[in-house]
Amino acid sequence: MVTSADELREEVRRRYAESARAVTAGSPGCGCGSGSCCADGEADAASFGEALYDAEQRGELPEAATLASLGCGNPTAVAELREGETVLDLGSGGGIDVILSAKRVGPSGRAYGLDMTDEMLALAQQNATEAGVTNVHFLKGVIEQIPLPAKSVDVVISNCVINLSVDKAAVLAEIARVLKPGGRIGISDVVAEDQLSPEERAERGSYVGCIAGALSKGEYEAGLEAAGFVHISVEFTHQVADGIYSAIVRAAKTNEPERKGLPVIQPAATDGCC
Ligand SMILES: C[S@@+](CC[C@H](N)C(=O)[O-])C[C@H]1O[C@@H](n2cnc3c(N)ncnc32)[C@H](O)[C@@H]1O
Repeated sequence: MVTSADELREEVRRRYAESARAVTAGSPGCGCGSGSCCADGEADAASFGEALYDAEQRGELPEAATLASLGCGNPTAVAELREGETVLDLGSGGGIDVILSAKRVGPSGRAYGLDMTDEMLALAQQNATEAGVTNVHFLKGVIEQIPLPAKSVDVVISNCVINLSVDKAAVLAEIARVLKPGGRIGISDVVAEDQLSPEERAERGSYVGCIAGALSKGEYEAGLEAAGFVHISVEFTHQVADGIYSAIVRAAKTNEPERKGLPVIQPAATDGCC
């Protein structure tokens, strides 16, 4: 059966809407790694979700935010956020990484969360209110078309979402567009070993469960390079299926000025006179 990109995206949206409704009703969320929604196995519990955050970070969060955690890593731990920065979380889900980021960047900074699922956005807003953070803004939209101006963000984070995108090249190009020169990314995602074909990835897990849509390490690196990133690294952290891992993806946007075809004219050396 051939599934169109729109159908696949709608399947993803339905899955995570269901997960948000489960958390709102007091049950654990379901998402990456689950064979069927809300049927997490033991291996999934260790590979995905709140277990990937330390006790101190979990203590900073409302219970519903930790219950809603569906990520495969902890991007706030790798992004080295600083006071006053603007952070954007792609596919922010129940808001866990947006809330943690908002606390790291402080009142002079801001944390945006972008998600396409209304139920997740409502849950995230509720969690942020409960956590008492006011420097957060949740945006509705898709990560393939980020609703923010160019060069407006210092750091892009994301937790187990890019594998779910139906157009990963567009996502990487959009990240490059919204980052300020010198900006950086700290992303957790599911990534496959290079020798696994797309068919072999699909044999190991579903698309909505964050396995079948995983890029390989080489594809990720090449995609980031094509989008103009430098200092690229894709590091496996733990295995989530045979030959498929949770990984930390880091890269930076060059801070070279855009030349737009014009020569850069160096000022002439002077002897201090005039
Ligand atoms: C696996 S959950 C991860 C949520 C959150 N990052 C976390 O760590 O708990 C995936 C989230 O990404 C959102 N999502 C998936 N594909 C998306 C897309 N193309 N554009 C915007 N949001 C998307 C889903 O609605 C869902 O909330």
